[in-house]
Amino acid sequence: MANVIVVGAQFGDEGKAKVTDLLAKNADVVVRYQGGANAGHTVVANGETYKFHLIPSGIVYNKTCILGPGMVIDPRAFLEELDGLIKRGLDDSSLKISATAHVTMPYHLTLDAAEEDKRGGNKIGTTKRGIGPTYADKCARSGIRMEDLLDKEVLKSKLEYLVPSKNVLLDRLYNLESMETEQILKEYLEYGKRLKKYVCDTSALIFEAVGQKKNILFEGAQGTLLDLDHGTYPYVTSSSPSAGGACVGAGVGPTIIDRVIGVSKAYVTRVGEGPFPTELIDKEGDRLRETGAEIGVTTGRPRRCGWFDAVLGRYSVRINGLDCLALTKLDVLDDFDEIKVCTEYKDCITGVVYKDLPSIGSRFNQMTPVYKTVKGWKKPTTDCKSVKDLPKEAREYLELIEEQLDVPVAIVSVGPKRDNTVVVEDPIHGPKRVLSKQATANV
Ligand code: GDP
Ligand code: IMO
Ligand code: MG
Repeated sequence: MANVIVVGAQFGDEGKAKVTDLLAKNADVVVRYQGGANAGHTVVANGETYKFHLIPSGIVYNKTCILGPGMVIDPRAFLEELDGLIKRGLDDSSLKISATAHVTMPYHLTLDAAEEDKRGGNKIGTTKRGIGPTYADKCARSGIRMEDLLDKEVLKSKLEYLVPSKNVLLDRLYNLESMETEQILKEYLEYGKRLKKYVCDTSALIFEAVGQKKNILFEGAQGTLLDLDHGTYPYVTSSSPSAGGACVGAGVGPTIIDRVIGVSKAYVTRVGEGPFPTELIDKEGDRLRETGAEIGVTTGRPRRCGWFDAVLGRYSVRINGLDCLALTKLDVLDDFDEIKVCTEYKDCITGVVYKDLPSIGSRFNQMTPVYKTVKGWKKPTTDCKSVKDLPKEAREYLELIEEQLDVPVAIVSVGPKRDNTVVVEDPIHGPKRVLSKQATANV
């Protein structure tokens, strides 16, 4: 029995869904604990490519899949995604939605886009899936929860109070058309009818599974550097993707967690605005983008690309308490003559060199990368099945990352398919990481 959190260790799109799918084979329950339809999670299995936004990747193995209370769910997007998956032969009989997950309403979608426009040059580059406004209403205690869609009177009274105030914003601040309470009520009660069979107390369900010694897998969306508290604020999402968020977002106590696995690309990508110290705005960046097919799953935007950043990696180890890493997309580096790893930052104003982030706040913008350059392996790795199949320079690259981050690389992904995977050591039952270098980080 092991309860495991899979968390993005960079800026999202690290290949979390591939890793979740791999581990789901031996799990009983897979839980998404935060985020909403902003996520784009790809699983390539059984000759098919699945792109999930709201539904946990565990559905491919037909495991009990839970959309946890920490999520924000757009029912329209959920039903569209579900219908598409059912058409392709996936089974929804073990799908559960938390009664207390918040609902993304039409005004959240409109406001997300309107707020972005208003920010002008300071825009965040959101996915426009209504994420920020839904979480803002949750915090303001003005949110609609899944259970409200099942009760006409409750939904009506909430909407009668909420929609007029949203209309003031839409009309006066953004010069946009007002919305009709009656129309929203009718549409969302219809969604409620369809969703009723999935809605339950998912925290109780997980607690029961824990009691039965089942294996629970927590699937993170986005990544540590997009975390509302620990990411590159304000260029973040509005939830807590980092490992701590899994307990709050799923409704479980931290004592049930056995392992935290961080998923990281062998380089770095980012979609949307915000700082990215190792970004390559040149031909090498283009090459990473083309070779890695770095196009956003949800928005179709090209992803910004750059070299692996060990400073951010160490930060992720610290914030999440990572036990090990799953390093993905190693194959994308197969053809490079030289590969760089950022080992330190230099403050471009003071000249001070930092091994660990001095601050994720405003000074972060001043950080320029200090690189270590290593030789590329110039051989295909996609068919490698074990560590000894990997070229010597590729093994040295993994060792460099392990040494820099002070965590073992347990899984290496060398292609999008399930069998394009090298398991270096059992990520769940292998030895646990012992705190050493991390404890001496800058304070
Ligand atoms: P997620 O949001 O973290 O689940 O990641 P995405 O699905 O947004 O992006 C990862 C992309 O990389 C997907 O298209 C995956 O199919 C693909 N992918 C995952 N692992 C590998 C790998 O090791 N090599 C290559 N070439 N592609 C991979
Ligand atoms: P997965 O789960 C990469 C980014 C957006 C934007 C910022 C805020 O596939 O890794 P939001 O719509 O959440 O308010 O946007 O966060 N972002 C992601 N980037 N992968 C994701 O999800 C992301 N979800 C949001 O591009 O910069
Ligand atoms: Mg993604």
